[in-house]
Amino acid sequence: MKKILVLLPLLFAAVAVEAKNYIVSTPNTSLVITADEGKPLYFRYYGTKASSDDVFSSHRSMKYQAYRSFGTRCDAPYACLVKHADGDNATNLVVRNVESREDDTTTGLVVTLEDTAHPLTVRLHYVAYKDCDVMKFHADYVNNGKKPVVLQKYMSAVLPVKSQECWLLHLNGDHGNECNENIEPLGEGIKIISSRDGGRNSVGSNAAFMLGTDGKIEETEGNVIGGVLSWTGNTYIEFINTRQNGDPILILAGINPEASDYTLDGGKTLETPEMVFSYSTSGKGQVSRNLHYWARHHHVLDGTSMRHVLLNSWEGVHFDVSQEGMNEMMKDFSALGGEMFVMDDGWFGGKYPRNDGTTSLGDWCVAKDKLPEGVDGLIRFATDKNLKFGIWIEPEMVNTKSELYEKHPDWVLRHESFDPTYGRGKTQLLLDLTNPKVQDFVFGVVDNLMKSYPEIAYIKWDHNMSMLNASSLYLPKSKQSNLYVDYHLALKSILERVRAAYPDLIIQLCSAGGFRLNYGYMPYFQEVWTSDQTDALHRLYIQWGALDFYPSNILAAHVCSPRNKYTQREIPVKFRFDVASMCRLGMEMVPAQLTDAEKAYATRAIAEYKRLRGTIQQGDLYKLVSPYEGNRDYASLMYVDGDKSHAVLFAYRTILFRHMPDKIIKLQGLDPERKYLIREVCPEVEGKPLPIDGKVVSGRFLMEEGIVLKDLNKAYSRTQPFNDIREMNDYKSFVLELIAQ
Ligand code: GLA
Repeated sequence: MKKILVLLPLLFAAVAVEAKNYIVSTPNTSLVITADEGKPLYFRYYGTKASSDDVFSSHRSMKYQAYRSFGTRCDAPYACLVKHADGDNATNLVVRNVESREDDTTTGLVVTLEDTAHPLTVRLHYVAYKDCDVMKFHADYVNNGKKPVVLQKYMSAVLPVKSQECWLLHLNGDHGNECNENIEPLGEGIKIISSRDGGRNSVGSNAAFMLGTDGKIEETEGNVIGGVLSWTGNTYIEFINTRQNGDPILILAGINPEASDYTLDGGKTLETPEMVFSYSTSGKGQVSRNLHYWARHHHVLDGTSMRHVLLNSWEGVHFDVSQEGMNEMMKDFSALGGEMFVMDDGWFGGKYPRNDGTTSLGDWCVAKDKLPEGVDGLIRFATDKNLKFGIWIEPEMVNTKSELYEKHPDWVLRHESFDPTYGRGKTQLLLDLTNPKVQDFVFGVVDNLMKSYPEIAYIKWDHNMSMLNASSLYLPKSKQSNLYVDYHLALKSILERVRAAYPDLIIQLCSAGGFRLNYGYMPYFQEVWTSDQTDALHRLYIQWGALDFYPSNILAAHVCSPRNKYTQREIPVKFRFDVASMCRLGMEMVPAQLTDAEKAYATRAIAEYKRLRGTIQQGDLYKLVSPYEGNRDYASLMYVDGDKSHAVLFAYRTILFRHMPDKIIKLQGLDPERKYLIREVCPEVEGKPLPIDGKVVSGRFLMEEGIVLKDLNKAYSRTQPFNDIREMNDYKSFVLELIAQ
């Protein structure tokens, strides 16, 4: 329940008496602004929790305009640019009002700014969580006039930062190569992290960053600000480090303004997306943990529920779906201890059967020739095998070879006067979600499936095409440049309908792998397909990067076939399981391809994952050895329960060199005063655990002196039996469980 409190300015003794300073705080951080009626809003401070004296004596304190509009000091970076109804493009925003707000989990301020020249209001929201060091900023634009105005830049957040030496961490990548962690000095000039795909906003860059405000970003020390933009459409985060006029470094974040002039009708409001910040004085690891906690407890749908171990059919059979094939996978996966089966692409199509990427999207009816007993038959079989059942859809899309397109050629995004550019299969197009009839159709895809097969427990919602044709046949000409925003407002309303009707349905968000990894989606989805890259070695780097900002329980990670389809690498089953078990474990192969020894291993690994998933999915993450650093030869991380009674540690050697030095792994997050029993989880050969297995060691010792897993850098000799799971020398991994005594 939101309550609006009376205006409560905190008058700090240390500043001029007429200045009204407002502070919002999380348990360990504070934000201070100065708001005087009729004057611009000023940003004063964001950092470690502060009293009034602290703030104004801090080297980080400043008086910098908190949300500048184009029109007053036109050479300076601005957050707001509006073309008013009379054509004027100058805006002068001044403070009219400040409200304090509070609900069960947050406190905050809403600052109302008004343009002194035109009927425009901008409301800035500053929200602080009570139980974690996370704040959220966003802005509402209200057109109080009768005629439309055009918003040309309408940022969610402005964060000025004072820093002598600033470093930036950001994630970059491509299909099958998402979330590469980059850490670099933030040099002078302007750096922009943005997306302009239209439909998928993690193509290339992820809308997330960390900023080391006092030098290089370290895992366990130093002052670090983290930021993630929670938006489903095109994103924009700009770092302005020009030091012009001695200005601080400025972070502007919000909807990407490129080709997105937004016509806002008279009397209407546009809420910009939330920009989420976290601050820590003890390194990037704490920023990650803050964001993970916030995500699980306040943002992601069902963020604290346990995730199932599932088998997805895609890499096993691709489009070659058949009843026998699905049944065989279900039978074998059930025997391994799996909990859910997901039938991927290839199950649907009427007049046009879906045998490759060229046809059928839009025709969401069962291909009877492939599945004579239909989805019912598969669900019966799954239930009999004690598995839940899930199914793949790509509901925002159509192929031109489909009955849907034949009926509604005007439902697609395209320009009316020239040929569209096609996506996958050279026939794929995006549906125009701004059209209410299309919205009903897309909602109906889920609704019809769920009405026909109420036992469906899981849907994989895919989105495999860029918005190559950003023109709408539905929107009027004057609002074509609203499309990049309106598409996503429409998607949000569809997702809200889906969630109102089916609150418990698990829905995985997929977009050619991880192209939609963004918190904007997560109030509607429980998890994300992290990447189509399932090669465990490459996946380790992708998951490592994603974990900087996103918690393990939303990152789906599947064990691939013995030979990976992208890299053609064969990686031992233990390494594959140990990488996938770091997040939400699943499999993506035909289990019958496994040898008996591998099946036995998989059975043990799944059972152990189920036993340990409380800690892996909900524990605090501590990164111990980064695969991006040094010789990139080792990686290690651990999850620790909130009460520090239980932890799970993963350690990987990614490459073998002769005479590799022993790797010392210093643990983190344990209770220094307690002793921990160490157990190896799922040793390679049953009954032959590491020498460290069974030892009881104090938390202090494990954190200060660390452990050396000598076997991590051992090479196996060819005298090992052929087909032994240890035969591949480049890959070696261990999982340890630590149980407080
Ligand atoms: C995308 C997804 C895959 C799979 C295919 C199906 O590429 O990322 O996991 O679902 O689509 O066509």
